[in-house]
Amino acid sequence: MPDAYKIIDHVYDVVVVGAGGSGLRATMGAAETGLKTANITKVFPTRSHTVAAQGGIAASLGNMGADHWTWHMYDTVKGSDWLGDQDAIEYLCREAPAAVYELEHYGVPFSRTKEGRIYQRAFGGMTQNMGEGPAAQRTCAAADRTGHAMLHALYQQSLKYDADFFIEYFALDLIMENGECRGVIALCMEDGSIHRFSSQSVVLATGGYGRTYFSATSAHTCTGDGNAMVLRAGLPLQDMEFVQFHPTGIYGAGVLITEGARGEGGYLTNSEGERFMERYAPSAKDLASRDVVSRSMAMEIREGRGVGKEKDHIYLHLDHIDAKILAERLPGITETGKIFAGVDLTRQPLPVVPTVHYNMGGIPTNYHGEVVTLKDGNPDAAVKGLFAVGEAACVSVHGANRLGSNSLIDLVVFGRATGHRLGETVEKGAAARPLPKGSEEMALGRLDRFRNAKGGSPTAEVRTAMQKTMQADCAVFRTEKTLDEGKTRIDQVFGRMSDVDVTDRSLIWNTDLIETLELDNMLPQAVVTMHSAANRKESRGAHMHEDYPNRDDANWMKHTISWFDKGQVTIDYRPVHEYTLTDEIAYIKPKARVY
Ligand code: FUM
Repeated sequence: MPDAYKIIDHVYDVVVVGAGGSGLRATMGAAETGLKTANITKVFPTRSHTVAAQGGIAASLGNMGADHWTWHMYDTVKGSDWLGDQDAIEYLCREAPAAVYELEHYGVPFSRTKEGRIYQRAFGGMTQNMGEGPAAQRTCAAADRTGHAMLHALYQQSLKYDADFFIEYFALDLIMENGECRGVIALCMEDGSIHRFSSQSVVLATGGYGRTYFSATSAHTCTGDGNAMVLRAGLPLQDMEFVQFHPTGIYGAGVLITEGARGEGGYLTNSEGERFMERYAPSAKDLASRDVVSRSMAMEIREGRGVGKEKDHIYLHLDHIDAKILAERLPGITETGKIFAGVDLTRQPLPVVPTVHYNMGGIPTNYHGEVVTLKDGNPDAAVKGLFAVGEAACVSVHGANRLGSNSLIDLVVFGRATGHRLGETVEKGAAARPLPKGSEEMALGRLDRFRNAKGGSPTAEVRTAMQKTMQADCAVFRTEKTLDEGKTRIDQVFGRMSDVDVTDRSLIWNTDLIETLELDNMLPQAVVTMHSAANRKESRGAHMHEDYPNRDDANWMKHTISWFDKGQVTIDYRPVHEYTLTDEIAYIKPKARVY
């Protein structure tokens, strides 16, 4: 039985968990329609991981040359290696310009062209004219601090519409009743009180789970808490095998150097000083999509052409770019290079290596943000009362590989769509229905379990074992052998949680307890990622399986759906949406993906 906890009850129309770009946009959108809206966040909103998004946000504004949303759609479909759902991709690309203008009106200080328009830079895989033309400058930028600027504007807007913020509250579990989401239980980390939120709808905007890996650009907080709550609720995750490695994490530190650096003319070299991307992607070169560039870098390192004492990384050059341009367009990474690599990038190359950056997989949703599940033969059955947005969600617009700068646009387009859907479906101020009896038991039982955990495996040790297993066995290149061994090893690491050691029972500011809860959230995601990867016998986007080096549309053009229960993974598949939303564009048929 749970210890005696102080439980404080709240009633809201809508509760959003997470205050990054998508969570804030959904919070603002729901509050704007007059719904009583709460936002629960484990960090102060402007410290959410969106703050680290540097290079920009994609939208076909056409400020720097011709552009069209259908061209953006073509590039996104091709970038996804045809695993993206084309109805959702059409929605994303079509709505993108309006979502960016909205941000401009909310106060995002975009960089400007001489004419005063929003400045746009080139990013990987973005082209003109349905892949036939040259690179498109489609990524709207606020220098290299775009995510930071967006968070500030969206937080201010959310406050303007009177949303209530519960800051430094850690969401523990969903309250589910007969397949419907009825609310959420959270721990206030300041005073140890437990908060039970009853709400007509819950929106999970809890970000990715990059910290399951040893080297990631993701913040320490990126532990996929919402994904884990979904698994514990008996619902599935989708396409978890698709983990993006960003080509340019700083070697040894993992800190992001924006793709915008290559968009502004930066390039990669190997130990022979060769611009090797010309061999792998003759047309797009350093601006091919991320999976292609990361694989090429890994190949150069593998074949002995890496740089440095151990020949285990690559150089990124910006030293040929005018220092004034660097100071104006890339001030953040100029500083980051100095601090984390000790490099003055106006004069020296920067040591970089492919680093885990983004999860294409997550909670399956439709383009309204509603969580869907495979149920009674219906692959798109919506779960009542539950929404997901941002990196936590898998809409799926990114399929097997996301294009750079399509993340920030995903946050605001689907955050906004979710706000609209909530406005249409949630009754304002409806009287609270009684919550199911024992609604807090699962969350508090879990809390009790870790408060009493006195085993032989310290949390940090189990976490390192998980991160090293993922890094070694589920990386840029995968084989039958690494994945099979990886399954055994990650299952064993999962087993160590029953022997975990937590050093302090206190609920207040106890980082060891919070980190144990986060680890308990990450491990099931690591397990389903490894098992989903082992199951997919083809190569597609970020999933490069060396024993099955080709894409296999006949057998594998389908989304992986994975459940996790008591250490066991169950996998099924749902069809990719091979249709568009309107007849303004036809389904873009699969073809070879060359850059
Ligand atoms: O490279 C970057 O600036 C990251 C952008 C993104 O992941 O979309």
